[in-house]
Amino acid sequence: MTVSKRILSLSAVLALGSAALAGAVRAQPQAGPQETGIVFRNTITGEAMDLNEGKPGGRDTPAVKTFFQTGKNIYIDDKSCLRNGESLFLTSCSGCHGHLAEGKVGPGLNDNYWTYPANTEDVGLFSTLWGGANGMMGPHNEDLNPDEMLQVIAWIRHLYTGPVKDALWLNDAQKKTYTPFKEGEHFAKDTPGQCKPLAE
Ligand code: HEC
Repeated sequence: MTVSKRILSLSAVLALGSAALAGAVRAQPQAGPQETGIVFRNTITGEAMDLNEGKPGGRDTPAVKTFFQTGKNIYIDDKSCLRNGESLFLTSCSGCHGHLAEGKVGPGLNDNYWTYPANTEDVGLFSTLWGGANGMMGPHNEDLNPDEMLQVIAWIRHLYTGPVKDALWLNDAQKKTYTPFKEGEHFAKDTPGQCKPLAE
């Protein structure tokens, strides 16, 4: 065999090998439905969290897919989601954080002071809800699925009363129409939008 033939057959073997490898890689199970561009990390330990754990459902909505990919919560300012978010917040959070997230046993969530500055962004807030923080702030991934968490987050952002410049979750158009939350504003059951009314 000449040297050049030898190289040819060697590269044929290599090509076959890498084709087989590519097949093997394709056959691997997906990393999970999140197809995530974003790694969600525990607020306290910094460990990457598995978003497949916890309450089933609420993982294949356009909002959750967008959020896992971009960190952008498209429920912000959607009144149908705010209506749901309020109800979920009152069930799961207000006992410790206050009716208006003004703070009680847990800290206020309606101003621009955060114990964990990552909570200024929705990815950080989601991570805190998912994995918890210290002491009485346990993980909430058993009572809320990811879609419901986005609704709660939208409501918490809606309760905000601080300066608009610190409202990093709003886009420029939303910043222009921002008004601090006033008590007594609720959204009717038939409010149109992306979020269906919660089951009763
Ligand atoms: C049993 C009481 C309790 C419940 C219920 C509870 N929290 Fe908390 N939460 C706390 C306490 C206490 C802290 C402070 C923990 C710390 O500093 O690590 C906290 C901290 C937080 C923080 C961090 C705030 C910051 O300044 O960085 C966020 C965000 C938060 N909670 C959101 C929620 C949401 C949303 C819910 C409902 C899904 C909820 N909590 C339910 C007690 C609670």
